[in-house]
Amino acid sequence: MTESGYDKTILITGGAGFIGSHLVRHFVKAHPDYFIINLDALTYAGNLVNLKEVEGFPNYHFVKADIRDRSVLRKVFTTRSFDGVIHLAAESHVDRSIENARDFVETNVQGTVNLLDTCLDEWKEAFEEKVFYHISTDEVYGSLSLNEKPFNESSRYKPSSPYAASKAASDHFVRAYGTTYGLPYLISNCSNNYGPYQFPEKFIPLMIRNIIQEEPLPVYGDGKNVRDWLYVEDHIEAMDLIFHKGRKGETYCVGGGNEWKNLDVVHMLCRTVDQKLGRAEGTSEKLITFMKDRPGHDLRYAIDFSKLAGEIGWKPKTNMEQGLEKTVAWYLENNDWLSSVTSGDYQEYYNRMYADN
Ligand code: NAD
Ligand code: TYD
Repeated sequence: MTESGYDKTILITGGAGFIGSHLVRHFVKAHPDYFIINLDALTYAGNLVNLKEVEGFPNYHFVKADIRDRSVLRKVFTTRSFDGVIHLAAESHVDRSIENARDFVETNVQGTVNLLDTCLDEWKEAFEEKVFYHISTDEVYGSLSLNEKPFNESSRYKPSSPYAASKAASDHFVRAYGTTYGLPYLISNCSNNYGPYQFPEKFIPLMIRNIIQEEPLPVYGDGKNVRDWLYVEDHIEAMDLIFHKGRKGETYCVGGGNEWKNLDVVHMLCRTVDQKLGRAEGTSEKLITFMKDRPGHDLRYAIDFSKLAGEIGWKPKTNMEQGLEKTVAWYLENNDWLSSVTSGDYQEYYNRMYADN
């Protein structure tokens, strides 16, 4: 049974996080014919303030639940029937995975398997019109040297960090459930995202925060590592297209075609923030501090998105200058958001408000 009056009921996991909150806001507003359930455990990375804009929409509902808990998932699936699942819930930060891999195994691997099992049980092989869309990362492919061709859908898996290994395992499980049980799935492997609402432990928002606060800017190693940056709204557009037009059982690589050395990104951020705050040129560059390198630090990620461009007609719309400009402007205008996520205030409030389902 679909939620009455709606064409489809879609479950989005991890919808209170960075990319998930952009996706939920987009789906709720762009698809009023869909009923959107956002399932999220509200870990440190989940923040319902990100979803204020759609809180009162009739086609949106939030469920606080943990994908590590099979019985909770079963309960959620028996009270509603889902036409599609878009799975983003994950532990997502490489440095945290180096400190403690266990949470990554439990959420990213076991949690994904729990969700796959629940879908299998509830959909009972009546798979027509159903889809399990798994959101993954380019980090599953490991590291490129500077002169290698960008990753594509045929690149071999060679994860370096515990985070990447856990996402690689989850991708394998999704494909295995497709092959073994016929579960209809889609996977996309995307490069580094940036934009508003990203938790300031990740490179770009951390640097913006520290520049604003005039704190040291910690650059790992020599700052020559390369990432292929994609503005988050371009990723959202790709996900919408893949969800609606992707061929079941296929994988799509998503990337910005936008490779930058970390140190160059920091310089660009320093210039942008200084200019907006009316500081003298070169002020924030003095804060750059080279740190001991991250263990197992991948040198370069880059994505060849020609399959997605050719089959579905997607390409990124936002270049780095425009994207960073919008991102910096957002962080400067949303200082309250930044201080509340840094202090952790947001967590107490929403955890008191929502009991586990
Ligand atoms: P994020 O850390 O900002 O958000 C993760 C969300 O998942 C949070 O809301 C958190 O509360 C929730 N969550 C964590 N553990 C959970 C659990 N056990 N049960 C239910 N919810 C749980 O992450 P993000 O950067 O938005 O990434 C979202 C997805 O996209 C992840 O799967 C990530 O691997 C993938 N991805 C991210 C990037 C990137 O650059 N950020 C790039 C490619 C792919
Ligand atoms: P990050 O945002 O953690 O993403 P990922 O490791 O998943 O690509 O880091 C992006 C790049 O920035 C990566 O090469 C590591 C580097 N980095 C720093 O130099 N300093 C920092 O404080 C952080 C968090 C990252």
